[in-house]
Amino acid sequence: MRREEVDSNIFYNGDCIAGARAHIPDGSVDLIVTDPPYGINGDRLHQHYNRDEAFVVGGYVEVAASSYGEFSRDWIRESERILRPGGSIYIVSGYTNLYHILHALRETSLREVNHIIWKYNFGVYTTRKYVSSHYHILFYEKPGGRRTFNLESRYGVGEREPGGRSPNYRDREDVWCINREYKPGRVKNKNELPAELLMKMIQYSSNEGDLICDMFLGGFSTAKAAIGLNRRVTGFEVSGEVFDLKIAELRGTTPGHLLPALRTPQIEEPANRGRPWTDADRKYLVSRFAALIDSGETKKRAIEILGEELGRGRWAIEKMLKNPGVQAGSRIRRREAAVVTKPVPDTVEDEQR
Ligand SMILES: C[S@@+](CC[C@H](N)C(=O)[O-])C[C@H]1O[C@@H](n2cnc3c(N)ncnc32)[C@H](O)[C@@H]1O
Repeated sequence: MRREEVDSNIFYNGDCIAGARAHIPDGSVDLIVTDPPYGINGDRLHQHYNRDEAFVVGGYVEVAASSYGEFSRDWIRESERILRPGGSIYIVSGYTNLYHILHALRETSLREVNHIIWKYNFGVYTTRKYVSSHYHILFYEKPGGRRTFNLESRYGVGEREPGGRSPNYRDREDVWCINREYKPGRVKNKNELPAELLMKMIQYSSNEGDLICDMFLGGFSTAKAAIGLNRRVTGFEVSGEVFDLKIAELRGTTPGHLLPALRTPQIEEPANRGRPWTDADRKYLVSRFAALIDSGETKKRAIEILGEELGRGRWAIEKMLKNPGVQAGSRIRRREAAVVTKPVPDTVEDEQR
């Protein structure tokens, strides 16, 4: 299998299943971002109504629809093997063969984190039905380790838009409206993913220096975004034509060049972040929380007030409220803890839907 090195990142021209088995050790990858061939045998879903197909690079290798299930099982099993415990995988999929991918995922130990809908522009034009303009992004984790999720990598949790909405919350909703890049007159791969989409996954789910793998490099867009964000990257592309054209383009990518243009999130540093809780703090937390709720405050507002008063972040307050008795070395009476854990009007979003 031919290999090429770009800034110490190794890329392989060959099949990802055999290639991963031969070249990628168990548990060595922090994050997989990948977009497998769709297995739709020339279906019009490939075409975009405003795109001149003459500018689409040839050599894209499809997978026969009849073998898509087995193909998905094989590459997803390899992905599970190479991910580190706690590593994440994002798989972009159309609707047609989504069930094969979901089925293959269920045969592994990988666990669903989110099923994201990516809504894009330039859908497939239709006249007798609705326009198809979304893909599925399956976000899974490998159990057994701590998953990287950089909560405030793009927006601080305390930031507010002029109308009072939280941009952090909006950015983390599971429907993403991100436009495809319109590149008139430039050669591109079929289904090239927009940099904005890739950067979002990479920012939330990896850190600088982490190793990212793309099993289906295509236009090397994952690799470009990863290098631009100062991550290490590896991957596979079976088509020699696509590989040669795109690796040449990648050589011009400066590591970290996307970092200076990233938005700086406004992250408030609470005065007592990281300091151990005292018994007095915990007692105050319990009784003050109960008093605030009794006075008619919502749970969300009570947590905000306590955060300000105790100089702690919202997550620290919520965590301590969930089990103050245990975390206080059981010095707080169970009756007091029960006041806190009884159901109260809840406007804080529940992440465990
Ligand atoms: C949907 S495209 C990936 C597009 C890519 N994400 C981008 O943004 O340009 C899928 C790619 O997988 C390649 N491919 C197909 N079978 C493969 C295999 N067994 N191993 C590696 N690559 C394969 C195709 O040639 C195609 O370039």
